[in-house]
Amino acid sequence: MATTPPTVFVIGGTGAQGIPVIQGLVHDKAYKVRALTRDPSSARSEIIKALGDVELLKGTFADEETLHQGFHGCQYAFVNIDGFNSGEKTEMYWAIRAYEIALEEGIKFFVYGNLDYAYKKSGYDPRCRAGHYDGKDRVVVWILQQTKSNKDRMGNIWRMSGGNRGVVQRDYTLLDRIHPNRIRSVEQWFRIEDDKGGKTGRGGLWERVQNLQPILKIVEDGRKGLL
Ligand SMILES: NC(=O)c1ccc[n+]([C@@H]2O[C@H](COP(=O)([O-])OP(=O)(O)OC[C@H]3O[C@@H](n4cnc5c(N)ncnc54)[C@H](OP(=O)(O)O)[C@@H]3O)[C@@H](O)[C@H]2O)c1
Repeated sequence: MATTPPTVFVIGGTGAQGIPVIQGLVHDKAYKVRALTRDPSSARSEIIKALGDVELLKGTFADEETLHQGFHGCQYAFVNIDGFNSGEKTEMYWAIRAYEIALEEGIKFFVYGNLDYAYKKSGYDPRCRAGHYDGKDRVVVWILQQTKSNKDRMGNIWRMSGGNRGVVQRDYTLLDRIHPNRIRSVEQWFRIEDDKGGKTGRGGLWERVQNLQPILKIVEDGRKGLL
């Protein structure tokens, strides 16, 4: 049974960057495209329309209603906010709003046409300060912060704390005074639990991991609940 290809909302689709992106998306009918343009009758608009499976949406990225219309019903997005035209400050604001509105509209995969944060990479050397580069990657740094889940960040905290050095440290001398019989290693805990499971008839650790049950109530509750 034929399935409808997913639709990609493209901002900047009539540009030097956008046209090859759209060609790549539609050439084998894997995707449909909705492309934003301020002028659907321009020569470049005609070029992308002629590729087939491309619908044009008239408007500017500097308008929330237009962004909603653009993302609505699409699954993916390629967003190239034209910093040449809009300037660095305007690009940053509308790129962030575009990303937020994309999330509101349920976009599953958001590609931002990025450039290097050359100013930062050069150690803030003013000779490398180029607004249309820096503005783009500032946006992407921000986007990546939004997409990192809390779980990833928790993993980072522990990765950056190995050997009781780094972000999180514990006073084990104090802990030993409070709880002299404490379990001192993961291995020790595994051995104790394995032994305990055998004695209580619950099975060793291997048998028990075959049927893991949630420890957190919030997982059992499907992460739903009143505040
Ligand atoms: N060209 C390069 O080699 C290159 C390389 C790296 C990064 N970039 C970045 O790409 C961006 C420029 O894209 P481009 O190179 O493709 O330039 P371009 O050929 O001049 O195309 C500009 C695109 O932006 C769209 N656009 C401009 N203002 C808009 C607005 N207010 N609302 C909706 N669409 C708007 C234009 O659409 P309509 O005119 O149809 O509305 C057109 O599709 C810049 O931010 C630049 O830093 C370019």
